[in-house]
Amino acid sequence: MAAFYEEKVLAVHHWTDSLFSFTCTRDPTFRFKSGQFSMIGLMIDDRPLLRAYSMVSGHWEETLEFLSIKVADGPLTSRLQHIRPGDPVLIGRKPVGTLLAETLLPGRTLYMLGTGTGLAPFMSLIKDPDTYEPFERVVLVHGCRTVGELAYQEQITRELHAHELLGEFARDKLVYYPTVTREPFIHQGRVTDLMFSGKLQADLGLDPVERAHDRVMLCGSPGLLADYGAWFEQGGWVEGTNTRQGEYVIEKAFVEK
Ligand code: A2P
Repeated sequence: MAAFYEEKVLAVHHWTDSLFSFTCTRDPTFRFKSGQFSMIGLMIDDRPLLRAYSMVSGHWEETLEFLSIKVADGPLTSRLQHIRPGDPVLIGRKPVGTLLAETLLPGRTLYMLGTGTGLAPFMSLIKDPDTYEPFERVVLVHGCRTVGELAYQEQITRELHAHELLGEFARDKLVYYPTVTREPFIHQGRVTDLMFSGKLQADLGLDPVERAHDRVMLCGSPGLLADYGAWFEQGGWVEGTNTRQGEYVIEKAFVEK
């Protein structure tokens, strides 16, 4: 059996010159947990070229969705950005990942912090009732350079609230905080600065972040993870793993070429 499914592209959405997303068919035997990623790619010269991509779609959805950057000379994304409905796309059969709600101890506020395409796993997680159950509220922070890169705003703020099953969770518990660093916007600044300075919590009327009560999920660039790594270490935060619940979990955003 091949290591991947061959699916068909259903729709493609270009958010900016450097960011796009697409949906494709989903094999009924492909199962994944909210927050996981899989290897995604194309056949190029009769060989599979795959990169890690987090699922944007909820684990219960009939189709799959992915968010990607476009890199002009990137081996995969230079081609993937040109896919059209009907084109074949490869989906790895083995989803994996650490950004799972079950890896965290229950708590007061769950902070989901993502930069760029690091938003993707959180899109899947906010479409899962199990994400909300252990927490009083879920704060989704998405940091980008420009407003145009703040993908899925409409889905997060409107569609989810109106959803038959998830609407109740989203209305009661989900707080969305988009922020940009390179142009004017209602919220400006890096995710790190906003959180470490307490501005984020002040803007949302929340108490300062405390290890005893709060949990963090992080998905972004290596620099972001390094900055947070130091902060977690200083505060004595315990990292969750697939075998032991903790106070935070991290995943590299797969900013692949
Ligand atoms: P900045 O504009 O100050 O670099 P990218 O597009 O490079 O992946 O960046 C996405 C967002 O993540 C940008 O707003 C960027 O801010 C921010 N960013 C980059 N590095 C870090 C970091 N070490 N800590 C927090 N935010 C970061």
